[in-house]
Amino acid sequence: MTDRGATAQRRMKLGLFFEGVGHHIAAWRDPRVDPHARQSLPHYIEIARTAERGKFDLLFTADTNATFGPDDVETWSRTLAASRLEPLTLLGALAAVTERIGLVATATTTYYEPYHVARFFASLDQISQGRTGWNLVTSLATAEAYQFSRDAHAAHADRYARAREFVQVVRGLWDSWEDDAVVADQAGGRYFDPAKLHLLHHKGEHFSVRGPLTAHRSPQGQPVIVHAGQSDDGRDLAARYAEVIFAVQQEKDSACAFYADIKARAARHGRSPDHVKIMPGVMTAVGRTRAEAEDKYDRLQALIHPVLGVKLLSSFIGMDVSGYPLDGPLPDLPPSNTEHGRQKVILDLARRENLTIRQLYMRVAGQRAHRTVVGTPSDIADAFEDWFTAGAADGFNILPLTFPDGLNDLVDLVIPELQRRGLFRSEYEGRTLREHLGLPRPANRWVKETAHAASSP
Ligand SMILES: Cc1cc2nc3c(=O)[nH]c(=O)nc-3n(C[C@H](O)[C@H](O)[C@H](O)COP(=O)(O)O)c2cc1C
Repeated sequence: MTDRGATAQRRMKLGLFFEGVGHHIAAWRDPRVDPHARQSLPHYIEIARTAERGKFDLLFTADTNATFGPDDVETWSRTLAASRLEPLTLLGALAAVTERIGLVATATTTYYEPYHVARFFASLDQISQGRTGWNLVTSLATAEAYQFSRDAHAAHADRYARAREFVQVVRGLWDSWEDDAVVADQAGGRYFDPAKLHLLHHKGEHFSVRGPLTAHRSPQGQPVIVHAGQSDDGRDLAARYAEVIFAVQQEKDSACAFYADIKARAARHGRSPDHVKIMPGVMTAVGRTRAEAEDKYDRLQALIHPVLGVKLLSSFIGMDVSGYPLDGPLPDLPPSNTEHGRQKVILDLARRENLTIRQLYMRVAGQRAHRTVVGTPSDIADAFEDWFTAGAADGFNILPLTFPDGLNDLVDLVIPELQRRGLFRSEYEGRTLREHLGLPRPANRWVKETAHAASSP
């Protein structure tokens, strides 16, 4: 347990998880929300500027190339999940209308090639002057396979084996150009110093990539790597390569255990635990009174369609439970090929509180099993401070109930309370995402070598 004194130096890191018109699965049905804003740039510009006004560390957008199986169209027509802009295209536009806030997008290692991903994020990092992060996922939606000439989603372990090599290639490509490679010698006719552009020549089990990358070295050295896996493979990949860890945690004790485990694994990989920021997701419903907040949340909960609730629960736990009695318990589940972490959080919740399938989907469908905090600005700040000072989190990835209202409540009511308590910044410290997060600028692997080559006889 750390006291507020010690925490004063340590400030919370806050991510805004932006998703269409709101994170609650029924947010689009709220009469104060514009359901047509799902693919509207002005809508996202407003969100980005409001989040920057709130001094958030980063904006985060999730991604999947397919949401549902061939026979689910009717059910998914009850949500906005099937409608989604490509995240890097969207963040490219938002980079032009923001100055400080970090821009984190998701890209899958299962259905992309490392050269693509390295180039997308290095380019966005140039455009945003060092504000970019890559949320590395192995893809949770089995239906994604159908978009890429495959009949089935690769096995969980195989996806992670590919991801481990994938991230090494991406980081290698990000070091193609040394910081001062470009000489732009117009008189001498040389644009870059050939000794400072490096070919990777990677040959591995999954990839053969020569390099170099076409995008120059990022102002922050390399984009920040984010990961959200909670399985053993996921935790190990996160502890070895990720600098920000998103997580699904419902309970403080298990969140503390996850936090301690990741930090210990990072140390075993020779990394400083401070260079791994753990930010569990939390859905917020804010009201000037507790009753007002509960009313906002309950009105959306009441709009969850039972068929959709069961479908969502089934996709989170990797097993179709639509054939089981709604008012009966969750059956025993085989290990999921999609998400081990989220499946375990949901199973633990069901067993801990002895919930029926109906009670369970009402607890997890609205916010995808993330923790939910409903209350006044002071209630929300208490809930954040509790986990932050208990060693359960370095910050939070926030899922507002609706946009723009849910976000405005956070920026106008909750963040001033966190600032008043000395728990969150009142001004940005730097310009790059790494500076916001207090992460080092990674050295270029070639520079050490060339310096060493130059110094040794
Ligand atoms: C906050 C958060 C955001 C995520 N975003 C995505 C996403 O955009 N796309 C995706 O395919 N998976 C996403 N995931 C799923 C994870 O990347 C990962 O696949 C999942 O947690 C399962 O990993 P595990 O089996 O190692 O626990 C997200 C998970 C969390 C907690």
